[in-house]
Amino acid sequence: MPSKNLEEELQHLRTLWSGFMASRVIMTANNLRVFDHLVGWRSVDELKEKLKTDKRATEILLDALTALGLLKKKKDRYKNTPLSDRFLVSSSPYYQGNIIAHAENLWWSWSGLDDVLKTGKPNRTERWDLRAFILGMHDIASLRSEEVIKRLPLRRVKKALDLGGGPGTYSIELAKKGLEVTLFDRPEVLEIVERVINDTPYGNNIKLKPGDFMVDSFGRGYDLVFLSQVLHAYSEKDNIRLLRSIRKTLNPGGYVAVQEFYLNETRTSPLRGALFSVNMLVNTQGGRTYTSKEIRGWLKDAGFISIRAHRLGETALYIGKI
Ligand SMILES: C[S@@+](CC[C@H](N)C(=O)[O-])C[C@H]1O[C@@H](n2cnc3c(N)ncnc32)[C@H](O)[C@@H]1O
Repeated sequence: MPSKNLEEELQHLRTLWSGFMASRVIMTANNLRVFDHLVGWRSVDELKEKLKTDKRATEILLDALTALGLLKKKKDRYKNTPLSDRFLVSSSPYYQGNIIAHAENLWWSWSGLDDVLKTGKPNRTERWDLRAFILGMHDIASLRSEEVIKRLPLRRVKKALDLGGGPGTYSIELAKKGLEVTLFDRPEVLEIVERVINDTPYGNNIKLKPGDFMVDSFGRGYDLVFLSQVLHAYSEKDNIRLLRSIRKTLNPGGYVAVQEFYLNETRTSPLRGALFSVNMLVNTQGGRTYTSKEIRGWLKDAGFISIRAHRLGETALYIGKI
């Protein structure tokens, strides 16, 4: 019989290595839109009819979701918990189902991690669903865009560029402040952006510019360039080059604002930042999560001054001036 300490250690290890089981159960329930059907109490028979699924499989999945705290069970009936009602029902303003659908993209690229370790090359697969990725970014940004934009020095800003701005969440927030906004992203992403921004009263205030910002010009005469969650997908060399190009597009006195996941200088904490580096390892050629020292260094190198940083939960926002 293992000692209490040993049992606790084993439990910790088990929770770590078996995390994929809970992930897969949530991802499948999300794909099937189980939570949309469980706003009220429903039996397995009713649910399997709605979902066109196998009864035994449905019951096992629902019991596991209940054990995970995402459903309640009374006799043979199930219903969402408040957590699921808030984040997993598609009509909720806090809906996170698109980012969970994007986890499906990650599931396949992460599954090649063994080979990635040998080759150093990413494992982005054919299964990549661009719509889930971009709308997933919207799920995340919707919960924080107001808070982030509040931190920007907008007093003298008239023209703003949201570089790599798909799905448009931050552009919408900037347009709400009365700015003239240009959103630059890849053409295939802009098709998705159009639908997101035209769902709001600000669609006409946001100009869409298609291209690859590593190759194409993204215009001139901006007072602010907002670059959110972009640098982690690129190498140090590419990032310095991009920040230098950004500097050249700015009007005198203009600003750059960079948002990135926060990672401490040892690159080992917080866990989310450290694991996100692995996400970039399996999905990009040269990206990873970067530390404050690295990002501040690049901004300086690109010619920005008066660099300030704000920690905003899991991200940090860096603001530099020219
Ligand atoms: C992780 S998403 C972040 C989206 C948004 N800025 C946010 O914070 O919610 C990165 C975005 O940058 C865009 N992007 C990445 N590389 C790009 C490139 N070379 N040219 C144009 N857009 C690019 C992607 O298409 C995607 O929309």
